[in-house]
Parts: sequence; C-alpha cells; structure tokens
Amino acid sequence: MLYLDAAATAPLRPQAREAMLRVWDTAHANPSSVHSPGHNAACEVDHARSVIAEVFGIRPEGVVFTSGGTEANNLGIIGRALAHPRGRHVITSPIEHSSVLASCDYLRRLHGFEVDFLAVDGEGRVDYGSLPTVIREDITLVAVGLANSEVGSVNDVSWISHLARDKGAGMHVDAVQAAVHLPVTLAPDGWPGPVADTLALASHKFGGPQGVGALLMPRHISLEPVLHGGSQEQGRRSGTHNVAGIAGFAAAVAASAQTVGARAAALMASRDELIAAIESGVPGSQLTGHRTERLPNHASFVVDGVSGESLLVALDTAGFAVSSGSACKAGSSEPSAVLLAMGYSPELALSALRFTLSQPLDSATIDRIVDTIRREVALRE
Ligand SMILES: Cc1ncc(COP(=O)(O)O)c(C=O)c1O
Repeated sequence: MLYLDAAATAPLRPQAREAMLRVWDTAHANPSSVHSPGHNAACEVDHARSVIAEVFGIRPEGVVFTSGGTEANNLGIIGRALAHPRGRHVITSPIEHSSVLASCDYLRRLHGFEVDFLAVDGEGRVDYGSLPTVIREDITLVAVGLANSEVGSVNDVSWISHLARDKGAGMHVDAVQAAVHLPVTLAPDGWPGPVADTLALASHKFGGPQGVGALLMPRHISLEPVLHGGSQEQGRRSGTHNVAGIAGFAAAVAASAQTVGARAAALMASRDELIAAIESGVPGSQLTGHRTERLPNHASFVVDGVSGESLLVALDTAGFAVSSGSACKAGSSEPSAVLLAMGYSPELALSALRFTLSQPLDSATIDRIVDTIRREVALRE
C-alpha cells in the first residue's frame, strides 16, 4: 500500500518513535511530581519546549502544549477572545478547518459574539479586499489558516494581520497544515511574525504522534483557559502532560525543520507531475485550489461524473491510500463546505479527490494512479 494521505496524518518519523521509546523506557512519570522520575519527565517536557521554541524563533514560555491542532485552535480563538473580548466581534473565513469554525460559533452561541466571514476566491484563498468591509474598530480577533487542508492553497496572512492588529485585534493563525512545509518563523523580523499572536500546530502533520500539538505565542498575551484543572502549562492548559507524545512531537518538528527546503522542492516536482498527468489523462478532472500558491505535497481535484468515495475505494483496491478531501469530518457524506464556498456545485464537490505526498513519486507510479482513476471514470460513463 502506498500511503498518499500525509495531510491527514504524516508517516511517523523514526526520530519521533525513538524519542517516545526513550521517554517510555526512562521517564514515564508525572512531570508535576517532585521525585526524581517526575523530574526526569519534566526535563523531557522542558527540552521539547526549547526545541520547538528554537525552530519557530520564540521564547520557550511561548509554547503551550495541547492535545493537538483542534485544541490549539480552540485555545487560540476561545481563550484569547474571552480574555480580551473588546467589541465581541470575530472574523474568520468559510473555508477554515472545522475546529476554527466551531470555536467561532461557540463564541457566538454562548458568549454573544458576532462572527463575520471574509470572502474567498475560486482558488481557495481568502480575499483580503473583503476585510475592510467587515472589520470594526472594536474587533476582538481575526482567525484564518495559513494553508487549506482540502485544496492546499496558501494564504499570505500578513496583510490581514496588519489591518487587524492596527485596530488592536488579536490574530490567530491555524498553521496546522502549513508549518510542516513552509519555513514559518515567529521571530520579530521573520514571517509571519510579528503577524500572529497565536499560532496552532499539530504533531501528527510533522510525522510525530497523534494527540499532541501546541499553541505558539510569540509575545505574552493572557488567555482564558479552555481546560480547567491542575494549572499545568502556567495555568493556560490543565491536564497531565503527554510526555512521550510531546518528546515525539519535538523530535519530529526538529527533523522536519532540518530538511524543509530540499523536501519542498522534491515534493513540488512530483506534485506537478501528478497534477499534469491527471489533468491530461483523466477526462472531466479539474485541479482544485491555487496552481502555484499551494502546499508542495498537495494535489487535489474534482472529477466530473464520479463520486470521490468510489475513486477512493478504487485507488485503495489498487494499493493507494488517498483521501476525498479532509479526513477530519469522519463519516461525512455531505459535499465539502470548502468547495461549495469556492463556487463548486454540490455534485462536483462530492467528487473531490486529494493526494498528499510524503515522498516523491516515480513516473510508473503516477501512471498507475492515472490508469486506476481513468478506469473508474469509464465505468460510470
Ligand atoms: C488546517 C487544520 N487545522 C486543524 C486541524 C486539527 O488538528 P488535529 O487533528 O491535531 O486536531 C487539522 C487536521 O487535519 C487541519 O488540517
């Protein structure tokens, strides 16, 4: 089976596995305990915090460990908005991950916030020009993603952020998909710094374990916690640390950062070959998302007249593990809200197919993928 679904969960990096085994063998204790094993576990968490802080160019205190990208988005949006409510006004876009949209909706339903949406274009990017029409002087927070998981398009969030922060608003960036592939540094002169107040990461997209992530804060801001309890993470996130997961996360981030540029170039060449082969070899296929401003490993399509699910099953049978869009809304047979917001019809949106590579593909493999899709399309004609 060839695994082509890295955007759902990237293959586990050996460095992450080794770090987790080390923790389980030598430091499986509660880092809040005062005895020596507890101290060893706390050292593992501190070390992981320093590694991640260094990669992203922030202070270690700016790393808040969470249970993943979903919780990091909840904390960055709900935690920030409740701590600094200002005019109770939040802006996001309709193509965000469900954890961003649901956090904004929670603020609306339970805390009386008004939520406005930026316009999006047909290529899956936020239309920056729509911000001045919805932004208010007392805006609380703007929350957008750096890259879209379903169609791979990358946003330049710096312009939005400058406008939002000019008004004194917070800026939350969901970098769960992007940070693996783009050199995101939050240091004062870096990019997107000083753009984001809070930025969400998920370990399993870097090749670390699932169920761990972080909210990064380049400068100190106060947050209302979303999880209440033992006041770990300086009171910002309660709950016993997932020590092995955190160590694996940091090892994956460090390994990923070392090869980010070279990996992107190799993946991009393969991605473009796959896109060209499907576009020319599969009747009715259309690339979704931006052609060039997209994640280097991401190729996504709609295929007229055939359901994404049947393509997925045919490819699975032929030995390719792919996705029909986002894996995050498990079991959903609804058309993708992202594609609908981009202007696709519900029928076309149900034909979505997504390949996200973790290594380059050879031409023979690409030919087999195209043949499999073409055969499935021919069956439906
Ligand atoms: C853009 C984006 N944000 C947030 C998440 C949620 O991350 P997690 O699965 O770690 O909760 C995902 C998951 O795929 C994602 O793609």
